[in-house]
Amino acid sequence: MDEKAFFKMSYGVYIISSCNEGKQSGCVVNTLSQVTSKPANLSVTISKNNYTEKIIEKSGYFAATVLTQNASMELIGEFGFKSSKDIDKFSRFNTKVDSNGIKYVTDFAAARYSCKVINSVDLGTHVMFIGEVLESEVLNNDEVMTYSYYHSVKKGTTPKNAPSYTEKTAQKGYRCTVCGYILEADEIPEDFVCPICGVGKDKFEKL
Ligand SMILES: Cc1cc2nc3c(=O)[nH]c(=O)nc-3n(C[C@H](O)[C@H](O)[C@H](O)COP(=O)(O)O)c2cc1C
Repeated sequence: MDEKAFFKMSYGVYIISSCNEGKQSGCVVNTLSQVTSKPANLSVTISKNNYTEKIIEKSGYFAATVLTQNASMELIGEFGFKSSKDIDKFSRFNTKVDSNGIKYVTDFAAARYSCKVINSVDLGTHVMFIGEVLESEVLNNDEVMTYSYYHSVKKGTTPKNAPSYTEKTAQKGYRCTVCGYILEADEIPEDFVCPICGVGKDKFEKL
């Protein structure tokens, strides 16, 4: 197996959200794609370790937004590296609610979809949900973010729960134990805050 072969695939970056009995949940994914057009169906693959997976399973509905290239690392850090089980991820951002009662973030969102789960495939570590699109809307015409742009320009990392996760190795510096961000420096400043997930110096380990 040549692991680098998987780096040749291209993806976008999205937020998937869902709501069950008033509990809102959401996470960043790169695995959203359109699988049919009539009816319009989307697929998304979510780790069983993600709270959002459980909420989608219970509610049978999910919302999706397409992130724009200028999406902030605060937004990606909140939705991509923390768990909705512990915090309200939506409170720091502008949101709307779709007709299924699911919140979605309108900041840095190029388009949004509301889906009803019509099928799911248990993939062991992950579940692939197939959702029929009930609503779709363009929110702005800014350039959308690709997964490659996220890595190469935003210097973003991917947590273990993402299907495309790979171990990143670095020789020197400090690694964030929450999101894997690597600070290439001899010393880490006392007030340093991870630019991706927002944790402090105490969560960094020396390489
Ligand atoms: C760029 C990026 C892509 C990701 N892609 C996926 C994905 O496709 N599927 C998945 O399960 N998790 C993915 N993740 C990880 C989840 O967003 C992350 O585990 C999140 O904290 C789960 O939140 P929750 O527990 O509130 O659901 C990705 C994260 C990032 C930053």
